[in-house]
Amino acid sequence: MGDNLAPYSFFNAVAYVPPQVMFASTGAKDSLANIRESGVFSVSVVGAPQLRAMSDTSATLPRGTDEFVQAGVAKAECTTIPCPRVANAPATLECRMMEVVTLRGAANFLILGEVTGVHIADACLRDGRFAPDLWQPVARMGYRDYATLAPVFEMRRPGEE
Ligand SMILES: Cc1cc2nc3c(=O)[nH]c(=O)nc-3n(C[C@H](O)[C@H](O)[C@H](O)COP(=O)(O)O)c2cc1C
Repeated sequence: MGDNLAPYSFFNAVAYVPPQVMFASTGAKDSLANIRESGVFSVSVVGAPQLRAMSDTSATLPRGTDEFVQAGVAKAECTTIPCPRVANAPATLECRMMEVVTLRGAANFLILGEVTGVHIADACLRDGRFAPDLWQPVARMGYRDYATLAPVFEMRRPGEE
């Protein structure tokens, strides 16, 4: 049985303690079926160098196809869960499924997971921080539109030194 890989832009971090994330499946897709079966999943972020491979993994392929092999993406094993991850991703979260919420509509699902492990590529760290200029984040804007970042700047919140 091959390992599944696909882009999901309906994704967000939703809590710090314990760290939790969510993504939404607009259809009963293979990722959800595999997560229901195994109870685990990994989430990798996409930078400009990973853009083409990310798009390639959105192809609809028979369940069981190894989509890492199909898209030429190197695989590594997670350390806290029995699950593969994208070896060369700028960062990956290892997640244990907590809950699948059925949303309104024909087949819409919200998948919630607790983060049990984090990988950040050394090449993407500067002074201990995940540095956007080093991993070149790409945002999905809807339609077929994607965007890279304008210059990154810091802004303080009220009361912050
Ligand atoms: C950039 C991008 C973002 C996507 N985001 C989502 C998403 O948030 N939810 C979803 O259900 N499908 C999304 N898709 C479509 C899935 O990636 C596609 O249906 C894929 O074949 C699902 O693979 P799977 O059946 O192996 O899980 C996205 C596709 C692209 C190219």
